[in-house]
Amino acid sequence: MVVNKRRPLQPADFTPDLVRPSVPLATSGEGSLLNPTTARAAEAMFAAATAAGVDMTLASGYRSYATQAAAHAQLVAVQGQDAAEVTSARPGYSEHQTGWALDVGAADDACTFQPCFMDTPAAHWAAAHAHAYGFIVRYPWMQQGTTGYYYESWHLRFIGIEAATDMVRRGVPTLEEYLGLPAAPTY
Ligand code: DAL
Ligand code: ZN
Repeated sequence: MVVNKRRPLQPADFTPDLVRPSVPLATSGEGSLLNPTTARAAEAMFAAATAAGVDMTLASGYRSYATQAAAHAQLVAVQGQDAAEVTSARPGYSEHQTGWALDVGAADDACTFQPCFMDTPAAHWAAAHAHAYGFIVRYPWMQQGTTGYYYESWHLRFIGIEAATDMVRRGVPTLEEYLGLPAAPTY
């Protein structure tokens, strides 16, 4: 399943099977849920990060259509339409609604969800090791012309260990390019 600005959820109110992974949580309710495959992979990844001494939390997992609608509208109200569109998906277009995506945070860090998160141990660890657990950094630096979003060092997408490792090994920056899909800079 690939979701971007040209590939909405179908149906728009799609809801995956959801479970709560046993990982350090910085969120509750639906945001602490992932689909079962992603949850198992997240448990392995967070266990490895913890074993490496890295402070890494699950900051946001699943988001329903309704939650994304509220979050997006809030951001548009605060930042304006243009700024909001490059950081937040419209409802029905967020990878978070698939259950395959998660945002990592750090318990002791004010940079969670901020550009400065890229300089945290959690972001460095994820950039170096997430692929070994099947995750990719889905919105890399300066790839907004393909992904539609500015760099999000915290947003990971599960695609499986084999594919994630292959993408990293071949240096392919985006899932769109890896799968031969059109760029999705806008709706
Ligand atoms: N921040 C990502 C793009 C989302 O809203 O799904
Ligand atoms: Zn995210």
